[in-house]
Amino acid sequence: MEIKGRTVIVTGASGGIGRALSLEFAKNGARVVCCARRRNRLEKTVELIKESGGVGLAVPADITDRSQVRQVVRETLEHFGVIDVLFNNAGSFRSIAPVHEVDPELWWHDVTVNLYGSLLLIREVLPHMIARDEGVIINMNGGRPVGGTGYACGKAGLRELTRILSQELKIIKSSVVVFAASPGLVRTEMTELQARTPAGQKWIPSTREAFELGKVRKPEEIARATISMLKIARPELSGKTYGPDTDFSEFSP
Ligand SMILES: NC(=O)c1ccc[n+]([C@@H]2O[C@H](COP(=O)([O-])OP(=O)(O)OC[C@H]3O[C@@H](n4cnc5c(N)ncnc54)[C@H](OP(=O)(O)O)[C@@H]3O)[C@@H](O)[C@H]2O)c1
Repeated sequence: MEIKGRTVIVTGASGGIGRALSLEFAKNGARVVCCARRRNRLEKTVELIKESGGVGLAVPADITDRSQVRQVVRETLEHFGVIDVLFNNAGSFRSIAPVHEVDPELWWHDVTVNLYGSLLLIREVLPHMIARDEGVIINMNGGRPVGGTGYACGKAGLRELTRILSQELKIIKSSVVVFAASPGLVRTEMTELQARTPAGQKWIPSTREAFELGKVRKPEEIARATISMLKIARPELSGKTYGPDTDFSEFSP
């Protein structure tokens, strides 16, 4: 897929990996619709896009709210007329506790953002992409840490959603493709919570250790890998997982 001139929706674009993705898409000539809940931070992402000569639009939304997700899609189509790529990057990892102590509400919040929120975006953009017989959906994978079952279960569900969706698209002979992205450990607000809080240090000590050893990825690495994946995207690759370590020559025809 040629990135230039494409319209891309990035969720979770208010910081971390989502901001890097948004900037990289814009740098490659895409029109980027940035979605997350915190308006100020979202507008900062768009400001950075515009400073570098790109095109961006901030649409604040909670992805677990169906009417707000519909609004994101509506505004995207009003402004740009098309949706070429959806990057389901928004994620939540607020519940850090073992199962016997976990707050069920917070646990369910993590499942909901990671799984249901991503499903809502997919459900809204897919009919549009299927009608055009073109488009790429990318879902963000995540780890399976002890002490993070809400997050892990949400991401496990999203992995299954990705796998089965790619099969469904093949059955209806659609050219729409779906990928899973796997970033490795990246220093962001999400992982800072694991490194800094007592619960994080107790249950996910590997995050702090990795920070201390400097064994972390930069958000820009996953952003660049995403552009590489999109450049070679084709229906036969649907369902694949990629990340900063992917050797894209293996995916060549
Ligand atoms: N960092 C890592 O090491 C790592 C590793 C593997 C996978 N990931 C995945 O990468 C993705 C990005 O994470 P990150 O590390 O960049 O963390 P982050 O900085 O905490 O970013 C999470 C993003 O999700 C947004 N978000 C959370 N709940 C939302 C909701 N209900 N509606 C809309 N947006 C929501 C946040 O924005 P608002 O708060 O403004 O809404 C924020 O922009 C996540 O899916 C995460 O699971 C990260």
